[in-house]
Amino acid sequence: MFVVIGAGGTVGREVVAGLRSGGRAVRAFVRDAGRVRFGPGVEVAVGDLGRPETVRAALDGAEGVFVLSAGPDAAAQEAVVAEEVRRCRVGRVVKVSSVAADGPALGSYGRAHAEAEQAFARTGAEFTALRPAAFMSNVLQWRASIAAEGTVYQTYGHIPRAVVDPADVAAAAVVCLTTAGHGGRVHRLTGPEALTSPQQAARVARLLGRPLTYVEAPREAAAEAMAAGGLPAGFAAGLLDAQADPDPRRGGLPLPTVRSLTGREPNGFDAWLSRHRHLFETG
Ligand SMILES: NC(=O)c1ccc[n+]([C@@H]2O[C@H](COP(=O)([O-])OP(=O)(O)OC[C@H]3O[C@@H](n4cnc5c(N)ncnc54)[C@H](OP(=O)(O)O)[C@@H]3O)[C@@H](O)[C@H]2O)c1
Repeated sequence: MFVVIGAGGTVGREVVAGLRSGGRAVRAFVRDAGRVRFGPGVEVAVGDLGRPETVRAALDGAEGVFVLSAGPDAAAQEAVVAEEVRRCRVGRVVKVSSVAADGPALGSYGRAHAEAEQAFARTGAEFTALRPAAFMSNVLQWRASIAAEGTVYQTYGHIPRAVVDPADVAAAAVVCLTTAGHGGRVHRLTGPEALTSPQQAARVARLLGRPLTYVEAPREAAAEAMAAGGLPAGFAAGLLDAQADPDPRRGGLPLPTVRSLTGREPNGFDAWLSRHRHLFETG
């Protein structure tokens, strides 16, 4: 039995599907059972990482656990998961971390991931950290302004990112959960090409068949939008610091890792856009 934490999210859903297509039994840990429909063979465990007793119940009997969470409390919540992994003697754990956890000088966002990685490394499980570059799916954040005014706003968009398809992160996770030899490893995951946000916006415009205006938004505007979305100021600042990082070694250079783990080339941005075109059309 494999437990998928964050099973209703962008990567987690694909991990559930990947494990099921390999014939594995899956328990999907979700906060709201009604929000996502999983296929046959998936047991749903309703819980919240903020409630350790629900994590404990979900991990009972697990041979492997996929961990993804988000938000300002993620590191503390993942420390709770690590404690339950140790208690339940789970064999394998794969965590979605971030290229921002690549040291030596870590900002608060990268440090939170690095601390969670260390907590899992101490559990006795075979632990693999996946450190992806920015997700291709982040461009979905542009949908509202594209629909309303044909404009893309992005902060630090001039920095090239080797954006990765969340499906490739999930495929890598399934490999690491289901095959030996990945314990103690850190895998940095990217897509096949580095693109700036204006370049990504141009690809979206081509997909939609209409011109889009690109606006490089000031950091203050992004911080305000994050505050309006309910993110604490310190956490938002950490996210923005990570976005501002110009070091190409942290997600700016395409790496061969997806190919070496999955045996196939990583998906390109245009392929991701084609598969998700309908999401831009619904606004
Ligand atoms: N976006 C990027 O470019 C990027 C790049 C590298 C790494 N990452 C890392 O990937 C993670 C976020 O991925 P995402 O942006 O694609 O988000 P996502 O997976 O679509 O959403 C976050 C998931 O975490 C679950 N979650 C959050 N708080 C929870 C809680 N208290 N209890 C149970 N589940 C909880 C959510 O559950 P619900 O479905 O119930 O809301 C959701 O499934 C973060 O760790 C981030 O640092 C992101």
